[in-house]
Amino acid sequence: MRKGLELFLPAILLLPASCRKAPSSADGKVTIRYLANPDVGGATKVLIKKFEEKNPGIHVEMVEGPSAPNTREDMYATSFMAQEDSYDFAHMDVAWLAKFAAQGWLKPLDGYFAAQEQEKFLPGDIAGSKFNGKIYRVPNQSDGGLLYYRKDLLKARGLTPPRTWDELVAAAKKIQSPPNLWGYVFEGKQYECLVCNFLELAWGNGGELIDEKGQVLIDRPEAVQALQWMVDAVHKHKISPPGVLTYQEEEARHVFQEGQAVFMRNWPYAWELMQKEGSPVKGKVGIVPMVHGKGRSAAALGGWGFGISAFSKHPDEAWKFIEFLTTHEGQKTAYLMSGILPTRKSVYADPEILKASPQIKDLYNILSLTRPRPLSPAYARVSDIVQLKVSAALSGLGEPQKLLSEAAQEIRGVLKR
Ligand code: GLC
Repeated sequence: MRKGLELFLPAILLLPASCRKAPSSADGKVTIRYLANPDVGGATKVLIKKFEEKNPGIHVEMVEGPSAPNTREDMYATSFMAQEDSYDFAHMDVAWLAKFAAQGWLKPLDGYFAAQEQEKFLPGDIAGSKFNGKIYRVPNQSDGGLLYYRKDLLKARGLTPPRTWDELVAAAKKIQSPPNLWGYVFEGKQYECLVCNFLELAWGNGGELIDEKGQVLIDRPEAVQALQWMVDAVHKHKISPPGVLTYQEEEARHVFQEGQAVFMRNWPYAWELMQKEGSPVKGKVGIVPMVHGKGRSAAALGGWGFGISAFSKHPDEAWKFIEFLTTHEGQKTAYLMSGILPTRKSVYADPEILKASPQIKDLYNILSLTRPRPLSPAYARVSDIVQLKVSAALSGLGEPQKLLSEAAQEIRGVLKR
C-alpha cells in the first residue's frame, strides 16, 4: 500500500477482510462485491437494479471507492496480495491489467468470453485486455487521448485545425493572448496521465517507450524530440501556462471550458461536460486526433473493464453480471446516463445514440488510433520513472536527452529484475 494511503481510506475498508465480508447466502442470495469509481451520472446503480430484478439469486455490492485510480489500484492490490475474497471482480484501468494478471490475481476469461464475442468489441480495447495470449478483462469503457480546439477562434483567423506539432504551435501563437487566453493546455502534473501525454507525442513522432521485443527505446531521438516539444510549449513558445505542471484532466478542462485556452489534450469525457447548458464554450468546440511530429497521430488507449478475482468463490455469478453490464443495452445506458464511451462497436451505430450525440462518430474515429501503454507487469514502476523524468524536464531540471537516457537505464534495470 502506498505510504500514508490508510489515512484517506474509510475505516470500514481497513478492517480485516474476515470482518467485512458480507455473508454470501444469509438470505439465500449470493453476494458479489467490487470496488468501483464514483458512479457519476448514476448509470451503474440503475444497471445493478435491473440485473438484480432479472437475477433474484444474486446481490451486487458496488463499493464506491475514492476517485483517484491509483488509490483504488492499491486497495485491490492489498486485498489480492492477502489472497482475500473481499472483491469477487475488479473494475480495472487498462494500465493495471498486466500487473494483476502476472500476479495471478485474475481468472483467465477464455472459458467465458468467446473469441467471436470478443470480435464485437473495439480491437484496441481487446488488445488491452490480454496478457500472455489470454484474456483477463471485458472492456466496458473506451478511452483515447485527443485534441480539443476552439472552432470559433480558428475560424475567425481563417485557420483549419492543426495536424502537426508545428501547426499547433503556429496557430496557438497567432491566437493566444496570455494570461487570459493560452494556446495549449494538457495534463502536465507528475502522474499517470503525463505518461499518456508524452507517449502520444512520442508515438506520433515514430518513437516508442518499449517495443514488442522488450527493447527500451525511450532514449531514442524520436522520443527525445517529443519531450523537447512539450518543454518548448511551456518554456520557449510559451503557449502553455506555467501552471500546466500542476494540471490533471479536470484542471485542463476547467481552463479550456472557461474559454481560456485555444487547444487542449484530454479524454472524451470532457466533450459532454463542455456541451452542457451554461458552458462558456458550448457549441464552439471541435475535436481532432492528437497532433503529430514525423509519424502519424496516435492516442493512448485508456479505459476500464472488468476482470474476475482468482480468489472469488462466485466467479460464475460475477461473470453473469459482467456480461449483463457489457451488453449493447448496458453500454447504451452507461453512455446516455454517464457519458461512458462504449467498447462495443454496435453501440456506435445505434440510431438513438447517433441522434442524441452525433459527435460519437468523431470519437469513434479517434478510438481507432489508440495504442496501449506497455503491457508489462512492471508497468507501474516503468510509469513512475517516466513520470519523474518527463516532469523534471518540464520543470527545467535537466535536458530531455539526459533525462530520458537516465529513464532508459532505470527502466532496463526494472525489466531485468
Ligand atoms: C483515464 C484513462 C485511464 C488513464 C487515466 C490517467 O481514466 O481511462 O486509462 O490511466 O485517465 O489519468
